[in-house]
Amino acid sequence: MGNYNNFANEYKVLTEELENKTRKNSYTILGNLKNKNMLDVGCGSGCDLKYYIDCGATVSGIDISKKEIDIVKRELIGTFLVADMLTLPFKDNSFHITTSTYAIQAAENVKKVILEMIRVTKSGGDIFILSKHPFRTLLEGYINDDKMNYFEKGDVTSYIFNREIKLTEPSHTLQEYFDTEILSKSNLVLFEEHCDFPASEQIIDGVTYPTYMILKFKKN
Ligand SMILES: C[S@@+](CC[C@H](N)C(=O)[O-])C[C@H]1O[C@@H](n2cnc3c(N)ncnc32)[C@H](O)[C@@H]1O
Repeated sequence: MGNYNNFANEYKVLTEELENKTRKNSYTILGNLKNKNMLDVGCGSGCDLKYYIDCGATVSGIDISKKEIDIVKRELIGTFLVADMLTLPFKDNSFHITTSTYAIQAAENVKKVILEMIRVTKSGGDIFILSKHPFRTLLEGYINDDKMNYFEKGDVTSYIFNREIKLTEPSHTLQEYFDTEILSKSNLVLFEEHCDFPASEQIIDGVTYPTYMILKFKKN
C-alpha cells in the first residue's frame, strides 16, 4: 500500500503541485461530470473527489488507508470506505465513471484491479486510470534498488516531491495494463504517456522518460 497512513497529511499538501500540472489534463479527458455517479479508487485525501463533486457528480471513494478516508469523510459528502482495490465493495454495474489516479500501481496485481473497476462500471461507462509508467519503475529500480530486469517482479523504491516522501511499490510491465481479458470486456479508447518532473524524481539527470500514463477504457 506504500504506507500512505504514515504521511497522509503531508501528501495532502504536496499533492497540490500534482494538481496544477497533471490533474488539469485528466479533468479535460474526463469531460462533463454533471449528474454522474462516480467511484475513485485509491482516492487518498479526496482531491479528485472534490473536483467531481464541484462538477455536479455523486461520489464514492475507497482507500486502504484509514487516515486518508478519515480526512475525506471530514471534508466531503459521499460514500467513503476503507477497502482494498483488489475487491471493490460495490455491486456490478454501479457507476457511470470509475477513476483512479496514481494508485493502482500499488497493487501486486493491476490486471485484477482494472477488472474490478470494469465490473463495478455500467455498460458504456468509462474507466479512467492514471498510473505510474513502467519505464519509470524500471529506471528507479535500476538506480535505487539494483534491479536489472524489467520482466522480474519485485518492489521498487521511488522518491516523490523532492525526496520528501519515499515509497516502495511493486514493479509492473505495460502488458499487465493491456491484458486480453481487460480488452475483451472493454475498449481502450485513450492511451497517453506523460512526464511530470519534478513531482516524480528525475533519477538520471538529462534523461527524459514517461513518468505516468493515462488509460481510458469504455466498458462493453
Ligand atoms: C499516490 S496516492 C494517490 C491518492 C489520490 N488518488 C491522489 O491522486 O491524490 C495512492 C493511494 O492509493 C492507496 N492505496 C494503496 N494501495 C491500496 C489498495 N490495495 N487498495 C486501496 N487503496 C490503496 C494509498 O493509501 C494512497 O492513498
